[in-house]
Amino acid sequence: MADTSLMDKLVSLCKRRGFVFQSSEIYGGLGSVWDYGPLGVELKKNVKDRWWNAMVHARDDIEGLDAAILMHPKVWEASGHVAGFTDPLVDCRQCKNRFRADDPKIKGTPGQPDAQCPVCGTRGSLTEPRMFNLMFRTFMGPVEDSAAVVYLRPETAQGIYVNYLNVLQSSRQRIPFGIAQIGKAFRNEITPGNFIFRTREFEQMEMQFFVEPGTDAEWFERWREWRMSWHHSLGLTPAKLQWHQHAGSELAHYAKAAFDVQYQFPFGWQEIEGIHNRGDFDLGRHQEYSGKKLEYFDQAQNRRYLPYIVETSAGADRVTLTLLVDAYREEEVEGETRVVLGLHPAVAPIKTGVFPLVKKDGMPELATTLYQDLRKQFSCFYDDSGAIGRRYRRMDEAGTPFGVTVDGESTANQTVTVRHRDSMQQDRVAIAQVPSYLSERLSALR
Ligand code: GAP
Repeated sequence: MADTSLMDKLVSLCKRRGFVFQSSEIYGGLGSVWDYGPLGVELKKNVKDRWWNAMVHARDDIEGLDAAILMHPKVWEASGHVAGFTDPLVDCRQCKNRFRADDPKIKGTPGQPDAQCPVCGTRGSLTEPRMFNLMFRTFMGPVEDSAAVVYLRPETAQGIYVNYLNVLQSSRQRIPFGIAQIGKAFRNEITPGNFIFRTREFEQMEMQFFVEPGTDAEWFERWREWRMSWHHSLGLTPAKLQWHQHAGSELAHYAKAAFDVQYQFPFGWQEIEGIHNRGDFDLGRHQEYSGKKLEYFDQAQNRRYLPYIVETSAGADRVTLTLLVDAYREEEVEGETRVVLGLHPAVAPIKTGVFPLVKKDGMPELATTLYQDLRKQFSCFYDDSGAIGRRYRRMDEAGTPFGVTVDGESTANQTVTVRHRDSMQQDRVAIAQVPSYLSERLSALR
């Protein structure tokens, strides 16, 4: 059974500590739209930086891109989204609610007299299923007619395909090579939910790898391996990660083959990243719809071909949620419950807290000097309010791996204690050594 209480506790911690807030909360919130607070924005940024580093900075064969959200509307005809990015929906004529046709709460067959609305309970009020497009539409310019329709992109991938020749030529890459992009995507999901798992506005971290036809299956396997290692490198529990292969009926319209990286959430095994062999579907369609040649000229082989694409597509919000779920734990310590986010230090929003034990006897001055020194290297948090135990607990809930305390001995012998979040063990360290002590431990865990 789903452990919904864990999700409830996590949502509450995220609000309490400033990770995630409901959007427009003072107006009652907006369905399945969330805002990242001071700690959340750092955590998600660390996820994105880590992805960017692994994909772009650490490799010679991948270039970065930041394409616009709004694109020519023909892009979405070519991509298949106008015709095919749809879900079957039914309406209740009585209460005007709308449901997915396969909603398990519907009793009977929609469109038939026996079908019962799951909200108002009326029989025979549900319409036949109609296909509903998940793309958000808006108008460009002052006239709101069909010629002015543009879409908020439902995936970042298309910005890469339409720029593939620009990047290829300007970067002087050769196939095989990739283009990576992080950016917002929008889907008018019918059944969003589970906190930031499925939302209508989200961020994707997508990479499209362009390869010679015939080598795609091999690259697909390589990318599967690299992407799973990346998830492991975030410190996620290995037993809670698995592969899910898409059967023929599950495959998206563009995919020859697809595997999902799934995580075992309290609400079941769910996708956090998709690896897709998209063949030449995308470049073929853009070549057809734009009328522009998108072939690659392979000088070594003296031949032209349309590259095949292997895509890796992860959700920045989903990976952030995965880290939070995986890190959350409660422990009994001296008769009290300690809530800890055991985040991997590399993604933790704050690397160390700095605390004067009391606000007198030179401790605040020493702690402030140390804090100013440490913050040049790491994200730090200075806290001098309340009992030291409470300050430690606040940092445990924020996932901060270290806490440096200036105490009565510090002014006398120039040492401080460094507390480790997970073991709660404290080491006595010379003040001059604290930056190297922390940086050694943080970089060992990169
Ligand atoms: N370009 C391929 C593509 O978009 P997808 O499987 O539809 O493939 C890829 O999406 C990833 O984007 C998912 O694995 C998930 O992490 C994230 N994602 C998709 N829809 C989402 C939503 N409504 N809310 C949050 N993340 C979403």
